[in-house]
Amino acid sequence: MNVDLAGLRLANPTMLASGVLGYTAETLENIAENGAGAVVTKSVGLKPRDGYANPTVVQASCGLINAMGLPNSGIDEFAKEIRSAKKVLQVPLIVSVYGFAEEEYATVARKAVEAGADAVELNVSCPHVKETGSEIGQNPEILAKVVMKVKTAVAKPVFVKLSPNVTDIVYIAEAAVKAGADGLTAINTVRAMAIDTETTMPILSNKRGGLSGPAVKPVAIRCVYDIYERVKVPIIGCGGITDWRDAVEFFLAGASAIQIGTAIALKRCNVFKTVARGIEPYLKKKGFESVNEIVGLSHRS
Ligand code: SIN
Repeated sequence: MNVDLAGLRLANPTMLASGVLGYTAETLENIAENGAGAVVTKSVGLKPRDGYANPTVVQASCGLINAMGLPNSGIDEFAKEIRSAKKVLQVPLIVSVYGFAEEEYATVARKAVEAGADAVELNVSCPHVKETGSEIGQNPEILAKVVMKVKTAVAKPVFVKLSPNVTDIVYIAEAAVKAGADGLTAINTVRAMAIDTETTMPILSNKRGGLSGPAVKPVAIRCVYDIYERVKVPIIGCGGITDWRDAVEFFLAGASAIQIGTAIALKRCNVFKTVARGIEPYLKKKGFESVNEIVGLSHRS
């Protein structure tokens, strides 16, 4: 069940996705104790941000739509959580980073690594905060500048979390890799909204948000499959994984590891254990000795 992600050793290929329960050392430790092979924090920026007013989350028929607005305490305060988490965590700690300019991404990433992060994941895909997130990740030239700047600022693996809200995700993935990304996370949420038939108004205070959960899994599988055909760095699959079969589908498409987020809210924290426990017997039954052996297997002719 071991996987190697650009030099990060994971005891199993399940990871906590950014944005869910990743605010404090205690919750990160709780997720690791529940079987995650690595944890990714909520996205952190240079300065504290309140995020949007409630409602920030709405349940859709097959997932969740959220627009939190990147609430966080800012990297200087959050560095304390990173240091505390590092004292207790037995699994790699990846800090999700956003910024409003390439220098900001680099500064936040450097401070996160100085505090103990084992890797950073660049949020260039939040679908609804102006001048950051997908406004950066939808433009290959700007994205490349951000990745290059972060790569010069840190000596740890740099993962780039991609947006599905683009015409050609492979083109963006290639730009990130060419700029030095050590791995790619695919995908962040799909732009979405919900309208209340009683009030006749959009439900989220930000009106537009991002859809996650089972509804987006086929989109995410297609993105991983397409990216795998064209890039050589490890891909971390993310989008709608709730059981071991979903995880295996991502490995077959080309993911080396998978992230779980919405299932924690819809199911339980122990989803990491149940997913990992399901993968092992599948591998045995099919005659494989490791997860690595099935990565990208669906591409053979
Ligand atoms: C949020 O904080 O609103 C979500 C961030 C994201 O989707 O990347």
